[in-house]
Amino acid sequence: MKVTLTDGVAGKGILVVGLAYDDGKKPSLVIESGDLVLDAKPLLEALKTMGATGKADEVIKIPAAGFELLVFSGLGKVTRKYPHETLRRAAGAATRSLAGNDAVTYSLPSPDLQTVNAIAEGAVLGSYVFEEFKGKTKGEAKTPVTSITINTSFAKSPEAKSISHRATIVGEYTTLVRDLVNTPPSHLHPVSFVDAFKKAVASAGGEKSDLKISVLNEKQLKAQGFGGIIGVGQGSVNPPRLLHISYTPRKARRKYALVGKGITFDTGGLNLKAGLGMEAMKSDMAGAAAVCAATLAIAALKLPVTIHAWAPLAENMVSDSATRPGDILTTYGGKTVEVLNPDAEGRLVLADALVKAAEEKGLDGIIDVATLTGAQTIALGTRTSAVMTNDEGISQEFLTAAQESGESFWPMPLPDEMRPSLESPVADLANMGEKMGKMLVAGLFLKEFVPSDLPWVHLDIASPAYNETGAFGYTPKGGTGVAMRSLIRFIENACA
Ligand code: BES
Ligand code: ZN
Ligand code: MN
Repeated sequence: MKVTLTDGVAGKGILVVGLAYDDGKKPSLVIESGDLVLDAKPLLEALKTMGATGKADEVIKIPAAGFELLVFSGLGKVTRKYPHETLRRAAGAATRSLAGNDAVTYSLPSPDLQTVNAIAEGAVLGSYVFEEFKGKTKGEAKTPVTSITINTSFAKSPEAKSISHRATIVGEYTTLVRDLVNTPPSHLHPVSFVDAFKKAVASAGGEKSDLKISVLNEKQLKAQGFGGIIGVGQGSVNPPRLLHISYTPRKARRKYALVGKGITFDTGGLNLKAGLGMEAMKSDMAGAAAVCAATLAIAALKLPVTIHAWAPLAENMVSDSATRPGDILTTYGGKTVEVLNPDAEGRLVLADALVKAAEEKGLDGIIDVATLTGAQTIALGTRTSAVMTNDEGISQEFLTAAQESGESFWPMPLPDEMRPSLESPVADLANMGEKMGKMLVAGLFLKEFVPSDLPWVHLDIASPAYNETGAFGYTPKGGTGVAMRSLIRFIENACA
């Protein structure tokens, strides 16, 4: 992806502008001021005749004199300053509708640098297509937009270069997360997930870029006592792995651990999921993909922060070697867990990885990302992820970063009174607790595996990781890449 900032629309290619509506529902043109001359009156008349509304996600294309194509992307109601996320989505919706073309220019209002950044991000994020498994012979595959030009008065500012560089990186690694989530379990299992990141680390420069990747295989996991990962993975012919990616720049102001749930497919194990409930379960490694990709993006941005990313990877399958309800696993570090429900597997692999990650000395915090519970959807719906924590400070910092990234996260409690429901008569803990508030119960389970004096944030991204409905804004159907941008922004803010 090539991202360029310019301060004057040259050429006559494809131009994206904004369309908003006023109280009388009349459409009005919204463009970056001072750059191009559009004869608005006849255009607006034509748009009105066409029934244009200017609503979000409405994209209208008109062949207009002087341009290959004029594209109007809806911004909603007219306002003095459009929210960053509104512009990010409008840019993305336009790019999405323009797949098949190479180059697109955007002229949306950008009164400050943050806005330019948001428009560039949205434009890039909307370019995603997943055509890997479409029959190439059909010739129907749409090629994504590859060259994005943002028209802004800040084009010559000293920050211009870093904005386009950052948008390119965010795009590249969001694509990696979305690709991995969309790749079915026939083509993605723990070992191939590791291989994908070996390749990504190598092309990011490897040790030259202060990146290291290491892996524990099933023998090493067993020998070192990772009973959670082994217990979840033992029902599959595809063996589990624990992936570790570190970014250790010479000058680091902070140090964080990131942990991501990496279930490459979740059948529910011997608590087999019903057909419909299993459909989206190729997305059950979205947390692992997000933390690993975020680490590579943070390295590409050369941020002065040490990152240790951990991805416990397993396939939760059914077979005569699968963990049975009632089995007891010894997690890394020695705590025993009675597996009442083999479908509550995410917390088992995360328990191992959280304990391992927290062994690192001098951590400023630890963040885990997981498609952990169906209860997330019941509580917050399909687009808002949950934030749970043992430390209000780090949680607030994360929520701020999420807000700035345009990702929807909302704080949820970890009520002490629910903790006793995780007691087991035969082990240190059970992997199931009380029936109500299952997302919080899962969070309380994880909390047991984090040192109480280490600031910790748990993100449940179950539904937002995988968009089953339809594309909107810069978000495609399928894998969304959620959490990665918030993690990057969190680290940027932490070292600012
Ligand atoms: N991977 C699922 C959670 C999930 C559900 C993610 C829907 C995305 C969409 C997780 O492993 C799971 O099965 N959780 C159980 C936990 C329960 C058995 C305590 C759930 O939420 O039903
Ligand atoms: Zn799962
Ligand atoms: Mn499950």
